Amino acid sequence: MNSSLAIYPGSFDPVTNGHLDLIERGTKIFARLIVAVLRNTDKQPLFTVSERVEMLREVTRAYPTVEVDVFDGLLVEYARKRGAGVILRGIRAISDYEYELQMALMNRKLEPQLETVFMMPALSYSYLSARLVREIAQLGGPLKGMVPDAVESRLRAKVT
Ligand code: PNS
Repeated sequence: MNSSLAIYPGSFDPVTNGHLDLIERGTKIFARLIVAVLRNTDKQPLFTVSERVEMLREVTRAYPTVEVDVFDGLLVEYARKRGAGVILRGIRAISDYEYELQMALMNRKLEPQLETVFMMPALSYSYLSARLVREIAQLGGPLKGMVPDAVESRLRAKVT
């Protein structure tokens, strides 16, 4: 397992400035970072997986060590396949901790060699979530500073 290669998994429906902040922080610690979009058949997403990947590629273009990929099945299996030694997750507030702890410990049970690393995004993004961004967009509210410009225009187009 390679501790300089980390996977940042998630739904990214859509990528927010909070995700981007975490990606930027991740690039400073890990030599390579794979942003991995879950192909989740349970959830009803706003954006298709291809749209989410496209947006992620666009907004991470400035980071040469970042790769955007799609995965399905178990995250630990995907990490093993990619040879990654670290799972990167963001924690915004205490409310995130319980769910994240449960996932991290379950992933450790499934694959003891894989470490989960938590990072905190900037305080100014601590209230931001993709779910609230989708809701604000659907209700026609302002999204300034919450998502990259490219994502804002796609959100507007999606809900009109
Ligand atoms: O952005 P999200 O929706 O909070 O991301 C959740 C994600 C993708 C990290 C999680 O659902 C996941 O890892 N799913 C893959 C299936 C899996 O491995 N499940 C067991 C987790 S302990």
